[in-house]
Amino acid sequence: MSWESRFGGVPTPAVFVDLAVARRNIERFQAYANAHGLAVRPHIKTHKLPEIARMQLDAGAIGVTCQKISEAVAMVDGCPAIRDVFITYNIVGEDKLARLVTLARRVRLAVVADSMAVAAGLSAAFAAEPEKLRVLVECNTGADRCGVASPAEAAALARRIAASPGLAFGGLMTYPPVGATAAVETFMRAAKALVEAEGLVVPVVSSGGTPSMMSAAEAPVTTEYRPGTYVYNDRSLVARGVASWDDCALTVHATVVSVPAENRAIVDAGSKALTSDLLGLTGYGHVLGRDDIAIDQLSEEHGRLVSTRPIGLSVGERVRIIPNHACVVSNMVDEVHLIDVNGTIARRPVVARGCIA
Ligand SMILES: Cc1ncc(COP(=O)(O)O)c(C=O)c1O
Repeated sequence: MSWESRFGGVPTPAVFVDLAVARRNIERFQAYANAHGLAVRPHIKTHKLPEIARMQLDAGAIGVTCQKISEAVAMVDGCPAIRDVFITYNIVGEDKLARLVTLARRVRLAVVADSMAVAAGLSAAFAAEPEKLRVLVECNTGADRCGVASPAEAAALARRIAASPGLAFGGLMTYPPVGATAAVETFMRAAKALVEAEGLVVPVVSSGGTPSMMSAAEAPVTTEYRPGTYVYNDRSLVARGVASWDDCALTVHATVVSVPAENRAIVDAGSKALTSDLLGLTGYGHVLGRDDIAIDQLSEEHGRLVSTRPIGLSVGERVRIIPNHACVVSNMVDEVHLIDVNGTIARRPVVARGCIA
């Protein structure tokens, strides 16, 4: 049966996730990690779905990564199998610290800090708790987002965290830029040695990122890896040569609503479905089976498709689009359509969408 007749009853724009492809992606990286003695801690920001977290845990993940407390709470509520959560974000502010304490009473929890200002807030919130909060020092290995700037600073912060009431030093964490595996090894190995020279144990060295995941073992100091987008893949990863179209589990289905010129058509998926993320690419997505088409312009509800030849689409016809950035698409929709191996479709709420605090 063609995909048009299988999915034609679902109103568009709609997001579909092929579970067989997602499972294959999960198992591929888990096999690599197992072969290299790496623990896998997937970042759930890509799917925000309890079902997929469950698949990742069943495949062998040791826990999950979340960016925000509300995201973690939504996932733990939806998937009781999640018992171990790492929040890779500086938690700042009384309301958030109070919610972090509540979450820490439910699951094995760790967070990061890259300054004593952040660690001091954590310490004040956890000082009276029976269990210490594990805090990893975030290190900047070249992405220039958060993170201490040098191994010496990492060791100094580790020492102060270990001495803070309510806190336990949990290890070292980094989110490197693409292709920086060698820099990860150099920075993290030096930081680990300096921390150990302080008499502390470094239980975890955590790194992440899908583009470099199949070379993660080239930084042997790493003990755990946090891939996120690997579960769905997207146009940006195909462009980097990390995945093929067949490895893309998430597609946005759209309907042609206008064909105003021979080489131009308009679909009902605009920036509210595809997002305006370019990630350095030209165009807003790939129309499967139509290499000649570019999605060159979006407004909120319109996507403009242009072709180098007569576009050959008619009003009412459907197209499937691989978005540039799957994670942000998940955050835009209330529900996704999960396609299981038998072709059955199940609508599922994206429980952690919009959880930005
Ligand atoms: C801290 C952290 N770890 C892991 C990831 C996962 O990266 P990717 O989606 O490239 O696998 C991200 C992505 O934003 C992140 O911010």
